[in-house]
Amino acid sequence: MSDGKHAGHRPRGDGMSDGKHAGYLPRAGAGRPQSDQTVGYPAKAALVLLTSLFLFWTPAGSASAQPAAATNTCVSCHAGLDDEDMSLPVAEWQRSAHRPAGISCQDCHGGNPATMVEDEAHAVERDFVGLPDPYVIHELCGECHQVQMVNYVPSPHGLEGDFWPNCVDCHANHEVVYPRASLISIPDNCEDCHEQEIMDDFIALTDRGLEPVNAFRLAAEEIRSAGVPVDMILAQASLARDAYIERASHVFVLDEMVAVVDSLEQIYPRIQKEVDTARTEVDTRRRFGWMFIGLFLVVAGVLWLYRRSLPEA
Ligand code: HEC
Ligand code: HEC
Ligand code: HEC
Ligand code: HEC
Ligand code: HEC
Repeated sequence: MSDGKHAGHRPRGDGMSDGKHAGYLPRAGAGRPQSDQTVGYPAKAALVLLTSLFLFWTPAGSASAQPAAATNTCVSCHAGLDDEDMSLPVAEWQRSAHRPAGISCQDCHGGNPATMVEDEAHAVERDFVGLPDPYVIHELCGECHQVQMVNYVPSPHGLEGDFWPNCVDCHANHEVVYPRASLISIPDNCEDCHEQEIMDDFIALTDRGLEPVNAFRLAAEEIRSAGVPVDMILAQASLARDAYIERASHVFVLDEMVAVVDSLEQIYPRIQKEVDTARTEVDTRRRFGWMFIGLFLVVAGVLWLYRRSLPEA
């Protein structure tokens, strides 16, 4: 691991990157099947049907084909390759947060995901870049994760640190999952440069900033399932999370992060108060629910006794 920068990447000079990623456009949702066929809207339904016919019947390899995720040929060919280095990325990506979001091989590597001919799939004219250059990976990820890139570049790990560690050093390239500081701040990733103490401070600080937001969201889901509206709680939790991400996440300067987290802690008690109020509302509804059931049983009992007291017909 210590044989130089970006251990694990094999920086290559074979021209696969010109430092720009002009060909990558966010394609959120691409490849996902159309699923909103509303009965009662014949025109819309017909349009959806036509679109699906178009999607599935365009000859493979045609320049305009947008293959469904299931027919992505990068995935199908690589999954079957004998060389583990070439097939493992598929298994790892399948466990990632990118797969359900519709982000696939060609979003990071370029290429044509609609042909089983290797040379055509890897065509440079289709912006195939092979292994992305470690020094510009932040631009590649930043196409879609702009806030993180904007904070990372001027951080001690960005320009100052010659882009070490970069996005994939911390998040992995294929098995990109929901991130937590405690999962990322591990000796393998950080001990070359940091004492454990800094890591502990960092984890404690992100927990202080983000854990309350997670707790509010969980509480809100629970309260919602009892029928009490929680939109305000969720909106405030999202605002707080966005503020953290914009001003503290990927800054990597503890003093700056502490200031942001302190200011968020001014807001959290107010959100907590709304959670408590909503919980009280849930309790009240439950109590009324039981009272109603009790009343119903009493009435049913009275009716039953009344029926029994009637003479047989
Ligand atoms: C028909 C099979 C096939 C298809 C389709 C295919 N690949 Fe490959 N790919 C290979 C093989 C075989 C290798 C390893 C041979 C080599 O090193 O050139 C490889 C190598 C690679 C590498 C490593 C390159 C390097 O420099 O080490 C990447 C990245 C890659 N493919 C991505 C993709 C992407 C993205 C797609 C879809 C746009 C794709 N592949 C489609 C067979 C395929
Ligand atoms: C989020 C971006 C991203 C996605 C999505 C992605 N890759 Fe990669 N992939 C990378 C990066 C970055 C590297 C280079 C990492 C390095 O240099 O160690 C890489 C490396 C590779 C390699 C070389 C592995 C090696 O050990 O030499 C292959 C093969 C590969 N990817 C195939 C794929 C396939 C197939 C898919 C789709 C299932 C895919 N990638 C999806 C970013 C991505
Ligand atoms: C083409 C757009 C695109 C590219 C390129 C891309 N991502 Fe993503 N990424 C997404 C989407 C969409 C999601 C899922 C929605 C979300 O959570 O933001 C996601 C999710 C993530 C998550 C999980 C976030 C969470 O809150 O659960 C991480 C971490 C992540 N990506 C890191 C990366 C890294 C590192 C790279 C570069 C190697 C990269 N992404 C490249 C679009 C992209
Ligand atoms: C030094 C390690 C490190 C580097 C480098 C890094 N991240 Fe992160 N990233 C984290 C940690 C830790 C979290 C979760 C806690 C937090 O947000 O502070 C995270 C969270 C995320 C998230 C979830 C939303 C958020 O901001 O909390 C995304 C998306 C993400 N990173 C993408 C990226 C991208 C893109 C890059 C490169 C521009 C990058 N990361 C570089 C450590 C890193
Ligand atoms: C290549 C060396 C290097 C690696 C690897 C590295 N960092 Fe850093 N990091 C730095 C430098 C340099 C600074 C700025 C000077 C300092 O505070 O140590 C810094 C600063 C920080 C700070 C702010 C410290 C402060 O006192 O303000 C945090 C937090 C941090 N890094 C987290 C991480 C995490 C988490 C990892 C592992 C995922 C990591 N770093 C990996 C070089 C590195």
